[in-house]
Amino acid sequence: LGGDPSGARAISKLPMKLQDIQEECRLALMTVNTVSVAGDSIEQYEFTKVMIFGEVIARIVAFLRPKALVDRGIRIWYEIPDIIPSLYVDKHRIMLVFQNLLLNAIKYSYSKEKNSKAGDILIRGGLSSDKNYYTISVSNYGIKIPEERAEDIFRSGYRMPEAIALVPSGTGFGLAIVRQIVELHGGRVSITKNYDPTEITVFLPSILASQPPAWQAK
Ligand SMILES: Nc1ncnc2c1ncn2[C@@H]1O[C@H](COP(=O)(O)OP(=O)(O)O)[C@@H](O)[C@H]1O
Ligand SMILES: [Mg+2]
Repeated sequence: LGGDPSGARAISKLPMKLQDIQEECRLALMTVNTVSVAGDSIEQYEFTKVMIFGEVIARIVAFLRPKALVDRGIRIWYEIPDIIPSLYVDKHRIMLVFQNLLLNAIKYSYSKEKNSKAGDILIRGGLSSDKNYYTISVSNYGIKIPEERAEDIFRSGYRMPEAIALVPSGTGFGLAIVRQIVELHGGRVSITKNYDPTEITVFLPSILASQPPAWQAK
């Protein structure tokens, strides 16, 4: 990973007012109540064309950045990749996906004393080598996810002991919901195992640039 965040562009001028951003995030959070790991169904999904970085990630970062910096001394970096076009997604559910991933990255980052590279979270976009998926990865320096836990962390209610020790509060449902939402978009989520930084990647099908998932056709 070329993990030097100084090469990444931090958004300073946002096209929206903070109030609007907060409202967006509040709406996405309300979606949480309707998303249960067992019961959320595709009929409830609403697909519209969305700029993932401009409309989703920029807003969530703007929402979480001050708190990450003040509470944890963590800076969040991303660059808007030219490569990813607008995609048909359920905007509030996709906001929830990246909200969960970023909250985890903030929560499970070590302090600088424990890992000298800690303190930066990097969000990057790209295209898979077979060109079938757009990729968005979130990486942070903190608890490493070993090979033998790579499946467990997506299970409802599962939390790694190291995570519980670092942050006692948590439900263990975040990644299960992330996976469900991404899969209902026809995509998948993967982690780079045993890796420092911890890196979680969302794969969204390239076909979403031209049409919503096939099962959406009403
Ligand atoms: N960025 C991360 N770094 C290290 N471990 C992580 C990270 N994100 C998730 N995990 C691991 O996956 C588990 C499940 O995550 P999640 O479903 O969001 O539940 P919660 O955050 O409530 O524990 C966490 O308890 C933690 O062990
Ligand atoms: Mg979580």
